[in-house]
Amino acid sequence: QATSIPADRVPDMGKRELMNLLLLGAISLPTAGMLVPYASFFVPTGTGGAGGGTVAKDAVGNDVIAEEWLKTHGPGDRTLTQGLKGDPTYLVVEKDRTLATYGINAVCTHLGCVVPFNAAENKFICPCHGSQYNDQGRVVRGPAPLSLALAHADVDDGKVVFVPWAEWLEDRLLCRWHW
Ligand code: FES
Repeated sequence: QATSIPADRVPDMGKRELMNLLLLGAISLPTAGMLVPYASFFVPTGTGGAGGGTVAKDAVGNDVIAEEWLKTHGPGDRTLTQGLKGDPTYLVVEKDRTLATYGINAVCTHLGCVVPFNAAENKFICPCHGSQYNDQGRVVRGPAPLSLALAHADVDDGKVVFVPWAEWLEDRLLCRWHW
């Protein structure tokens, strides 16, 4: 009886190994040769529509209601919410008192510190090693190698919903490619 088990499992093991290889390929970035597969790996999540979205949560874990948020957050405000995969993500209020259509992931692209917004300088300044990003999260001073990640910020049924930004990832990879 014992001998039949390995025989039955051979095809499964093969599949699993293949999956591991694929997973490894997706993770072992950034290396130039992998840029294209990496980008296409993420495309399906970006086109998932409502299925791929996450409702933004405020500091106490409640869903962010766009209308309520705008009553208490003025033009230019950038306040942390909980975004995709639980990442701290800035919700941005534009100068015309509307919500920006993008959220800014607060995780520094250098070594992962949460980057606070400095309203006086109108920049995100990382307390860990001094990287700076402009008010839209674009890196303006290292050592951070990349701009802060963006997510789409949509309003669905009155609530703010973050959706993965596949195009942003591709843009970012292209930028890196050109550096
Ligand atoms: Fe932000 Fe190093 S973690 S500059």
